[in-house]
Amino acid sequence: MQQVQRDEPQDFERVLSSMCTPPHPQAREAAERFLATNPGDPGTYRTVTALERKAVETLGQIASLPDPEGYITGGGTEANIQAVRLARNRADTDTPNVVAPRSAHFSFRKAAELLDVELRTAPTTDHRAEVDGIAELIDPDTVCVVGVAGSTEYGVVDPIPELAELADDAGALCHVDAAWGGFYLPFTDHEWDFSDAPIDTLTIDPHKVGQAAIPAGGLLARDRTLLDELAIDTPYLESASQITLTGTRSGAGVASAVAAMDALWPRGYAEEYERAMENAEWLADSLDAHGHEIVGPELPLVVADLSVPMTDELRDRGWRVSKTGSGELRIVCMPHVTRSMLRSFLADLEWY
Ligand SMILES: Cc1ncc(COP(=O)(O)O)c(C=O)c1O
Repeated sequence: MQQVQRDEPQDFERVLSSMCTPPHPQAREAAERFLATNPGDPGTYRTVTALERKAVETLGQIASLPDPEGYITGGGTEANIQAVRLARNRADTDTPNVVAPRSAHFSFRKAAELLDVELRTAPTTDHRAEVDGIAELIDPDTVCVVGVAGSTEYGVVDPIPELAELADDAGALCHVDAAWGGFYLPFTDHEWDFSDAPIDTLTIDPHKVGQAAIPAGGLLARDRTLLDELAIDTPYLESASQITLTGTRSGAGVASAVAAMDALWPRGYAEEYERAMENAEWLADSLDAHGHEIVGPELPLVVADLSVPMTDELRDRGWRVSKTGSGELRIVCMPHVTRSMLRSFLADLEWY
């Protein structure tokens, strides 16, 4: 009999580069159960539509937003594009611009290109947005000011209240990108959420630190009128309009987001944060002891000035590590990253 070869996904044993992680067991089970559902058609797929409401409610609790509005996106990219889109649609200008720090995720470049919006980026100091630099770029055509709460490369948090105030003064919206940091930040002293500042929209992704199955990003909005800026009529569906970017979308992502948050919010996520932060601090201290210069960890992400050949050697040994734009080694302490994994990573470093 012919043997059929089955392809298997990578395991996470040596993955130090990813902002995703294996789903929580209950999230995996929920994703499988809801595979054939489409919250893009709420009239037909009612259970998953109710679950999506529940997901938004919990995301609202995590980001301190009472009466939250929003939906489960395909990921942080879609949420950021939609935030820029609603800011553009709401504003009265033919030449809209968005002001963001240089550290903003590249999804804002996609948003700018797709939406014909100018993206203005301001310098950072210690990888954090410079408030004066952002202020200088704002003008009457600014539709949105972006702050990052947990940056992709360095894991740092921008001064969100100051940026929100600048947006408010300019009559622009304030969008916070907490795609990665949003499930760690509630357990820190950072000011990043709707209770800290007049934020209008926020990205927070269950499929990253939230331990939901991919695809499950999150977009939150302060009130319904903001989301209404995204509404498109949907003549042949039972529902009258749609605010999402995609049409048919994954009910598996929605159901798994609810299952993961039911299982982990808040205690489980708090424990994950403590463990991840201890690991990141331990790693930073160990790399420092090896003579490397370290950035962080402000959140569980460590950057070290390892040489490029050294990083390449680690990759050849099976480690999945990434580099910052300046070539430094970047290690993300996600829930699957354990102390013993980091110990064996350092043992491979000793060899060099
Ligand atoms: C801060 C931030 N925003 C947005 C994104 C994009 O998210 P996704 O890859 O889910 O589209 C990422 C991805 O790492 C991110 O770190």
